Amino acid sequence: MSEPRRLYIKSFGCQMNVYDSHRMADALARDYRETDRPEDADLIVLNTCHIREKAAEKIYSELGRIRRLKSAAKKEGRRLLVTVAGCVAQAEGEEIIRRAPAVDIVVGPQSIHRLPELVARAKQGGAIVETEFPVEDKFDHLAPPSARATRARGVAAFVTVQEGCDKFCTFCVVPYTRGSELSRPVAKIVEEIEHLAAAGVVEVTLIGQNVNAYHGAGPDGRAWSLACLIGQIAAETEIARIRYTTSHPRDMRADLIAAHRDIEKLMPYLHLPIQSGSDRVLAAMNRRHSRDEYLEVIARVRAARPDIALSSDFIVGFPGESEDDFAATLDLVEAAGFAQAFSFKYSPRPGTPGAEMDGQIPDALKVERLARLQQALERHRHAFNAALRGRRLDVLFEKPGRFEGQIVGRSPYLQPVQVMGAARRIGTVAPVEITEIGSNSLFGELIEPVSAHAAKPLALATAGGA
Ligand code: 5AD
Ligand code: SF4
Repeated sequence: MSEPRRLYIKSFGCQMNVYDSHRMADALARDYRETDRPEDADLIVLNTCHIREKAAEKIYSELGRIRRLKSAAKKEGRRLLVTVAGCVAQAEGEEIIRRAPAVDIVVGPQSIHRLPELVARAKQGGAIVETEFPVEDKFDHLAPPSARATRARGVAAFVTVQEGCDKFCTFCVVPYTRGSELSRPVAKIVEEIEHLAAAGVVEVTLIGQNVNAYHGAGPDGRAWSLACLIGQIAAETEIARIRYTTSHPRDMRADLIAAHRDIEKLMPYLHLPIQSGSDRVLAAMNRRHSRDEYLEVIARVRAARPDIALSSDFIVGFPGESEDDFAATLDLVEAAGFAQAFSFKYSPRPGTPGAEMDGQIPDALKVERLARLQQALERHRHAFNAALRGRRLDVLFEKPGRFEGQIVGRSPYLQPVQVMGAARRIGTVAPVEITEIGSNSLFGELIEPVSAHAAKPLALATAGGA
């Protein structure tokens, strides 16, 4: 038999792209084996992100390097096919091929299931651009991963349950690149998670751009909420831990808040972006909630689950943001007390209303505000972590640590936790006493030899392609 061809996939941006990259590798698995060396590849896929200008521009510098690989392959008598997938593909379409003629295929996020067919067509010659929103549902046409591929990807997996967004925040490209909201049916998601659990996956993160707006068809024919979906996964599958991201404050319904109190497998962590602490800026962003409404939502979440770790996203320097508006954001950070957060300088994106607004903020001011905000967020992150010293946390061990004899996992609050322990614990949950707080990780000691929640032992494939 001839050598399988080699596929190199690089994912940029959010977790949904990580999920889509796995799905693309699965769709191509019949003909292509994954490699982590782009210079060996016969097919390169860049799964791209368009959320901020920097992310989009990164793709073109990457394509510059790939052009040289393509020429080198040609000299060896090989043809290297280059695909740009994801949100830059959707937003820029043919423009990509004009700017980077080395690209053979441009495919939007809703058409990734067509990739094997597009590759076959590209081999016949000519560049292909596929950025329509197809009528068929890609999830119905995507091949499931083999158990081997699933295991190689680790013990914590992402599962897309909802895609797209109808909210149209004025800074955001997502409604244009990912299209309108679509929820997958409950039964399909549960089936996918059962497969993951059978292959040794212990934790799933349900992902969607607006995951708590989930309203997929339930087995009874009605639209089920995210809370009902989580309840079903907790009851019907072997998965030990469930998470979800990313949520919108307006869709934080009572049943989801109650799930944080009632469902033990649901981890005490909530990523709930607010973007700004100023009502004026929130209105200009079209967030459709006020600062007080946000604070009220998190108070209700904390009442249901007092130890919950809250996380958020912030944008500084949105058009028209005054010093008072920014002070309101700093004040909100103090009032909310986030366990961690992501913060960004506003980046005007073509085609979004924000890019056309008056009062664009100079970059130097954005830089200064971002630094002040990050300092405050860092202080809160450190305080949250410091309070865990001496506490006993259940850790899901995911991989070997940096040093000999060390393993690393995640706490319920998502921080990495490093302990000295045997590699056979990877894929199991075990209690750890936290002894030290590092800048990014927690350090601790295993408490018991075997966990009460011990998951199936897992023969983890180590580094290298699947
Ligand atoms: N500029 C800066 N940050 C942005 N985000 C989304 N669009 C932009 C933009 N144009 C941030 C938001 C969002 C996160 C995923 O990215 O904070 O929650
Ligand atoms: Fe973008 Fe999220 Fe707003 Fe939707 S809700 S437009 S994905 S920031």
